Amino acid sequence: MKLNVNGSTHEVDADPATPLLYVLRNDLELNAAKFGCGLGQCGACTVMVDGKAIFSCLTPILLLEGREIKTVEGLGTIDSPGPMQQAFIEEQAAQCGYCIPGMMMRAQALLQSKPDASDAEIQTTLETNLCRCGTHMRILKAVKRARELMKTAAM
Ligand code: FES
Ligand code: FES
Repeated sequence: MKLNVNGSTHEVDADPATPLLYVLRNDLELNAAKFGCGLGQCGACTVMVDGKAIFSCLTPILLLEGREIKTVEGLGTIDSPGPMQQAFIEEQAAQCGYCIPGMMMRAQALLQSKPDASDAEIQTTLETNLCRCGTHMRILKAVKRARELMKTAAM
């Protein structure tokens, strides 16, 4: 199958029923998305497909040919972080960091579709994603900062 990930086309030799998360991590060496529960309950595996946040642990690749898949690796680089990554760095939002890629992708999907999302909308949207370290307040601060940085970047 051919998958478009972060703007590049990848040929993947895997069973079409394989969850996207396994293909990202095991075949494409894109390790940002994490395995937490494998059941759609934690959000650690969240990536974007056609601009929407999805659980990659529950999404078989057979549904994804011709779709645009985006992971944290597609938001920027170490030398040139994107606004979402920059905001998380500035707010030092991570403790262990395991939940952070999923948080970023769900927040990115929200702010791309709704740049003026309210604080309450950000909070409600991120309720899907769990952080066992309890850094929710710093994560929320980071996403609010990202909301401003994304607007500046779009100017
Ligand atoms: Fe996908 Fe937990 S690993 S929701
Ligand atoms: Fe450790 Fe969120 S920072 S799980």
